[in-house]
Formats: sequence, structure tokens, C-alpha cells
Amino acid sequence: MSRTPEPPPAQEPPRAPAARRTAGAPRAAGTPGAAGTPGPSDVLVVGGGIIGLVTAWRAAQRGFATALVDPSPGGGAAQVAAGMLAAVTELHYGEQTLLGLNLASARRYPEFAAELTEASGRDLGYRRCGTLAVALDADDRAHLRDLHALQQRSGLESEWLTGRECRRLEPMLAPGVRGGLRVDGDHQIDPRRLAGALVAACERAGVVFHRAWAERLTVVRDRAAGVVTGDGVALSAGQVVLAGGSLSGRLAGVPDAVLPPVRPVKGQVLRLAVPERYAPFLSRTVRALVRGSHVYLVPRENGELVVGATSEELGFDTTVTAGGVYELLRDAHELVPGITELPLTETRAGLRPGTPDNAPLLGPTDLPGLLLATGHHRNGVLLTPVTGDALAHALATGGLPAEAEPFTPGRFRAAALTEQPA
Ligand code: GLY
Repeated sequence: MSRTPEPPPAQEPPRAPAARRTAGAPRAAGTPGAAGTPGPSDVLVVGGGIIGLVTAWRAAQRGFATALVDPSPGGGAAQVAAGMLAAVTELHYGEQTLLGLNLASARRYPEFAAELTEASGRDLGYRRCGTLAVALDADDRAHLRDLHALQQRSGLESEWLTGRECRRLEPMLAPGVRGGLRVDGDHQIDPRRLAGALVAACERAGVVFHRAWAERLTVVRDRAAGVVTGDGVALSAGQVVLAGGSLSGRLAGVPDAVLPPVRPVKGQVLRLAVPERYAPFLSRTVRALVRGSHVYLVPRENGELVVGATSEELGFDTTVTAGGVYELLRDAHELVPGITELPLTETRAGLRPGTPDNAPLLGPTDLPGLLLATGHHRNGVLLTPVTGDALAHALATGGLPAEAEPFTPGRFRAAALTEQPA
């Protein structure tokens, strides 16, 4: 995304908006043009994180000649995220609309994972293990009781357990655990494997990768027409999908009126290894609110244990700090004291793409030819299947499926207008 914007070269817009072709038979995108520049594609996806990749994969499956621009496809927040598919345990007050989309995506996961495994030939580390959210003191317990009531009012499945019942399920839990919520429907996937599989599936589906930064959006006759890369290459397309994660608001050339209101929300995450002699250390995701901060422990089948995550509003800062690591280990240790025996293998920070209402921005903008797939904040991994489907629908029809309609980028335009002084 933009660092030092270059002026865009003069360029003709692609002849026509992307037309839907026969599914399964995409024509090649970006075949070199006469002057050695890549030829136009139907769809150009800006950003190669899991959201950009799933959009490109689904677009190519629909028969669009699809290209994707990113210096390192498969990188980004997916390299840090724990991969909880936590529609129920991450429910928050005021986010009931988002809950509908989260649940729709969670329901799609088994089929999505099977299809992607088949299409990529890769294992995704999809583990249907469930989640246990526990409380360590009276305040946490009261909070968890409130969450349970909200889940019940929302028709979600979760079961209240005593501390003893929690420890029967997970013997490594601290003796002081005061109770918990068993949610058998909140699973996990390994986001690094998911990203790798999406890159492979895109390659097999004919998506053309341009390994470069997108520097500037090209707008020709009031229509998004492509991007210019950091090395000065002009990529043109009938439709452009901006899927740049936390960087989505920084692409030069995007008119202010449609610039996504996305900000980076830093999360520090630790990775530990569970030696054979301790296995199974935990059999499901375990999480808690400790003194107001969320901590979660996600055990992979391969012995990795992911501990997350801080939530910090510090701009584009991905420094791992002693304080962040200390707080995560301190809280994880209160929850599962045996964690201090495990080798610490990695510390890393990533950036969630936050929006004003914590929900994603999906589909067409007011600039013809420009669509958004960004702003997934805490739920990017969970929302990957439903985002791919919604964007493929939007690219083919110009509209959104009913479940995605509340997440149109235009909702913030409407809010800005009503906030105008009389
Ligand atoms: N969904 C977990 C996190 O954002 O930390």
C-alpha cells in the first residue's frame, strides 16, 4: 500500500466491467500486453492475506480472469492469528448483527475446509475441538454469567460448568477456576496453513500473482480501473477489490469518500511447544478474561500451543514488547500453571483491521469498479468462507447476498450524513 505515491500514468479504462464467464474455465489474467505491461484482468485483488486470497480464489472459480497484487501473498495477520472460530465465545454486546454473519461463516466451515483441502492438496489444521471459557475470580465469573445469558437470549448453544467440571474436562486448569462455559461449536484452524492452502488453490485456479506493493489506485473517468505498483507497473482490471487488511485505508488514489475507515489494532501472540510427555496438555481452546484482558490458549494437533492476544491501539507498530509477553504469560499462567514448563518458540505481533463498528466492509463502494473486502478486525479467519462467497456474488451481480447486506461500506456514509449539523 502507499508509502510515497507516484502520479498515475495516463491509461485507458478496461473496455467493460467484468463479465461472468463459464465457471471452471477462467481465461488467463494479466497476459502481457503489446508494450510488455500485464494485460487487463476482470478482477484485480489488492492484498494477499487470507481475505484477498479467498476473494481471488472464489472469483477465479466463477470464471473471472483474476489477478492479485501483494509483495508476499499468504503473509499478513494470518501469520500471527491463533485461528479461533469463535462465533459464540467472542460474542459481544451490541454485535448481534455481526453474530449473524459469524454464525453463517462458522456453519460453512466444514464444507469450505473440505473443498479447500481438495483444491489445494493441503491440510488446513482444521480441528473441531470446541472451546472452554473459564472464570478465575468473582468479577470474571459475573462477566461470564452475563455472556452466558446473552448467548442464551441469542439462541446459541453453551453450557455452564462448575470449576470442578471444568477441571474434569481440562485437568491442567488452575485449581482456582470458579466456573466456565463449555461451547462445543467453537473450533479452530491453523491460519498459516489456511493461507498456504489458499495460495495453492489460487495458483491451481489460474489466479495471476503480481508480487509487488500496490502504490496507487487508478481512476479513469470516475471508475476504478486498476493500480500502479511500487515498481511503476500499471495493472488494469474491470473490477478492483481492496483487501489490504489494516493497510486498506492507505492506498493512494482512493477518493476520500470511499476510503475505508480501517485502523490497525495490534495483537501480540506467543507460540509454545508441548513436548510429547505433556500431551495432551489441553484438548480444546481455553480462554478467560483476566482482570479485563482476554487471554486464550489454542492447542494444535501438531503440539503447538498458541497464546494470545493483546489488543493495543498504537498505529502501525508491530514491536513485540516485554510488557506484552509478560502480561500474556502471567495471565496464561494463572489459567494453566503448567505453561511455564513449555518451551517458548515464537513471539510475534500482528495488526487487526478495526472499523468503527468492529464489523467488516464488504462489497461495492460508491466508486464504480471498486469493492471492499476488509475491516474484519477480530474475525478474519472465521469470516473467510462467507467473505469469499459474498465477494464472488458481488463481483458477478453488483449486489450482496442478504447475509452480507448489513456490511456494505455505504453504512458509514449514511452515518456521516446524519451526523451533519442542521
Ligand atoms: N479473535 C482473536 C483476536 O482477535 O485476538
